[in-house]
Amino acid sequence: MAEYDFDVLVIGAGPGGYVAAIRAAQLGLKTACAESRETLGGTCLNVGCIPSKALLNASEKFDEAMSGVLAKHGVKFSGVELDLSAMMADKDKAVTGLTGGIEFLFKKNKVEWLKGLATFQDAHTVQVGDRTVNAKNIVIATGSSVTPLPGVTIDQKVVVDSTGALTLEKVPEHLVVIGGGVIGLELGSVWKRLGAKVTVVEYLDQLLPGMDGEVRKEAAKIFKKQGMDLKLSTKVTGVAVDGGRATVTVEPAAGGAAETLQADAVLVAIGRRPNTEGLGLDKIGLQLNQRGQIETDHDFRTAVDGVWAIGDVIPGPMLAHKAEDEGVAVAENIAGLTGIVNHDVIPGVVYTHPEIAGVGLTEEQAKERGEIKVGKFPMMANSRAKAIDDTAGFVKVIADAKSDRVLGVWIITSVAGTMIAQAAQAMEFGATSEDIAYTCHAHPTHSEAIKEAAMAVQGKPIHM
Ligand code: FAD
Ligand code: NAI
Repeated sequence: MAEYDFDVLVIGAGPGGYVAAIRAAQLGLKTACAESRETLGGTCLNVGCIPSKALLNASEKFDEAMSGVLAKHGVKFSGVELDLSAMMADKDKAVTGLTGGIEFLFKKNKVEWLKGLATFQDAHTVQVGDRTVNAKNIVIATGSSVTPLPGVTIDQKVVVDSTGALTLEKVPEHLVVIGGGVIGLELGSVWKRLGAKVTVVEYLDQLLPGMDGEVRKEAAKIFKKQGMDLKLSTKVTGVAVDGGRATVTVEPAAGGAAETLQADAVLVAIGRRPNTEGLGLDKIGLQLNQRGQIETDHDFRTAVDGVWAIGDVIPGPMLAHKAEDEGVAVAENIAGLTGIVNHDVIPGVVYTHPEIAGVGLTEEQAKERGEIKVGKFPMMANSRAKAIDDTAGFVKVIADAKSDRVLGVWIITSVAGTMIAQAAQAMEFGATSEDIAYTCHAHPTHSEAIKEAAMAVQGKPIHM
């Protein structure tokens, strides 16, 4: 009889967990995955990446039709209407299709889905619902949840988090977004395009912490031009709800006179925190770090033998593709192979219009490490962008002054999320800016701006 029920038990079926489970099964390990949601796919597929991108796409189409942008290109029509429930149904269909797809992949790869909340009994034993199972290796992939704002109650009607903001029943007249990060700007954009007035209240003096300074400033300009009201260096001190309306009290972050904003919806988007409550980590003696995360080594081993961790619950950017790559790597390490994730080259994308993307170091970080060269190319000088009237933004390539190795790439343009893959691949292969500058790029494409920015690092772009 086998010593354990499973070789691998993964807790959580988000992009980290479901990928780890499938890869482990592909490598011949007997695998189960515990998930307490009704559907697989975690935050990303159910209430994150997928529904938000479906609404971003649909709302962009509505905005293009409504705002007269298409008429400018000679496409004229009248009677544009918003059918919000149809838009929501379409988004739900995208979610169901993809979560069902993971269920199919589990069956195909013989991963057993243990339905219910998993709690450790000891380092090899987990209780899932009324079942107790043991496994030689346990991977914690429990993800993250919304960080609450002290004193502000999320009722998912007037005061919502990202999940509630994906299911509002009508377009609010005035949406106040607390937090000018990725969620605030993406979901703020959705409701702005559908007709809401949107005010973003951000504690720091710029939007999008963690991104390149110049990109953050340009983003603020772009969102202001789109009509978003940005209140930077401002903190929310209270939200009072009465009769379906909210009064949001704000004051300067440094202190000063308070003012109130009247809103019919408030989105709290001030970050996310790791899910570790109720896991029974005390039973296995696993400590959390100061930020509530589980620490691991490069192989994703925790301090407890046989227990591994990946995704949003461990340090690093809270991104689906980072979780997925860690899922593959942890399964390979458990199987005795060499699973590696290069945490220096994880792209990040904000799916607004235009998109904002980056990989590697910001100019500020790169300068701290040594001498650098920077090349920039505006989309205004890119022929494709000009031809289709899509000229907002720029590409910036940051390279080491001596070795010319690319240290970071930052892009603002409509297809930045797709373009950043090229930069990530170049950096993964240790490319210099000269390598990119001498790579033939198809014409006319937005991607030529990456080549020109790389040429600018050497001081010789052609089209500028
Ligand atoms: P999760 O996806 O959070 O999955 C963890 C799963 O574990 C959950 O399903 C949970 O129910 C389950 N679980 C937790 N505890 C237990 C337990 N004890 N027992 C059983 N099951 C348990 N990232 C991107 O890269 N691109 C995007 O466009 C993007 N958009 C986003 C939009 C929104 C609105 C949000 C909120 C997030 C977005 N993210 C995006 C972030 C992305 O969703 C996360 O980084 C990603 O889901 C993390 O994957 P994970 O596997 O670590 O955890
Ligand atoms: P975030 O960390 O991106 O932004 C939170 C913002 O809130 C920050 O700018 C912060 O300064 C601000 N803030 C914090 N406390 C505040 C306060 N009291 N008052 C006003 N502002 C305050 O977090 P967000 O937007 O909630 O997203 C969570 C995570 O989800 C992100 O870190 C990201 O990793 C992931 N995500 C990724 C997406 C993508 O890849 N496109 C899309 C959506 C989410």
